[in-house]
Amino acid sequence: MRNDAELLDHILNHIDNGTTDLGDEDWYEPVENYASQDRFDAELRLMRRLPIPFCPVAALPEPGSYVARSSAGVPLVVVRGLDGTIRAFRNACRHRGMQLAEGSGCTKIFRCTYHGWAYRLDGQLEYIPHEQGFPNINKDQNGLVPVHGVHIQSGLVFVTQDEPIGPGALESLPDLLTDDQIVFDSDESHDDINWKLTAEGTLEGYHIKPTHPESFYPYGYDNLNVIEMQGPNVRVCFPFRRIEKLRDVPRENLSLDRMVTLVNRIFPFASVTRLAQHYSVTFAEPESPTRTRYFSYRLTLPNPEGGVATDEALARARKDVSFLSDTGNKEDAKVVSDIQAAIGSGANTHYLFGRFESAIGHLHKNLAEYLEKLAQSEKNNVR
Ligand code: FES
Ligand SMILES: [Fe+2]
Repeated sequence: MRNDAELLDHILNHIDNGTTDLGDEDWYEPVENYASQDRFDAELRLMRRLPIPFCPVAALPEPGSYVARSSAGVPLVVVRGLDGTIRAFRNACRHRGMQLAEGSGCTKIFRCTYHGWAYRLDGQLEYIPHEQGFPNINKDQNGLVPVHGVHIQSGLVFVTQDEPIGPGALESLPDLLTDDQIVFDSDESHDDINWKLTAEGTLEGYHIKPTHPESFYPYGYDNLNVIEMQGPNVRVCFPFRRIEKLRDVPRENLSLDRMVTLVNRIFPFASVTRLAQHYSVTFAEPESPTRTRYFSYRLTLPNPEGGVATDEALARARKDVSFLSDTGNKEDAKVVSDIQAAIGSGANTHYLFGRFESAIGHLHKNLAEYLEKLAQSEKNNVR
């Protein structure tokens, strides 16, 4: 992965020559892969057997902070314990399965709202009302059920629900978020769209001029990207035109903050995007071949002076968010919903991703390889 100075020189070279990064091969993705229930089910089973980003570490700022949501259709709760450790549990009471936490917040204990069983933040079953009604229960064996593993890396909490079939995104992860960034906004939304269409829309700049003629294009370039793979992850850089002001700036300690948009696809369902004035982190939760829920967080940029963001930086970040949601994001949403509507048209058996769209080919290629690994592993288990 290039540092900012190397990235600048690479971009200036493209600007001067009217070029962009090119992949080595075309990618043909079967349209069936966006529509088939079997393929969708396999993607969800894969999601349970890879380390999958669940939320930013910054969403769990203090002991007792928790985030509860489904991942691959399984309700989970991730919580920072009193000891500071982040743990992940299946969000189901050990009595009769009621979910114990909803949304996000901060708590001292998870108390089931059905009959009142209570669990400590480390999962231990602490209290059963009228315990004499359960003479045979062993409280030590009826704590919250943890997932297979939790990894904290690059400012993200990764959850591996079941025995992993490979390292997934953790094979080689770029630096993403730092400790001093704060979550200033978060939301949950859903779209009647296959999750892969939305991911694809963020991974190439070939569409910037035709799709975003008045929103993004005046600030950026037509078809100019730097594409870098890191393990199954990929980073796509979209420079702003103002980057040309840096041509003669000394390269030591150079920062491209505010000069580029960097889209990091964290294999395969999440993205961490560094925009001009904020970071946007999105976790896709595929719910069906044609429906996806999105959990999104917006974070401040790292403060170059250290410490948390100033009020001014926060105001700039909020302005950045509203500019995007009023303009380019709507244009992208229209494209993906139009493609979704035409998926069953029979016009295409495959979608063709060309040399400018190699980041998308990389995502599909790695997904196909991991699904093959999953199929092998499931076959071996049946024997
Ligand atoms: S289901 Fe939770 S206490 Fe009964
Ligand atoms: Fe776009």
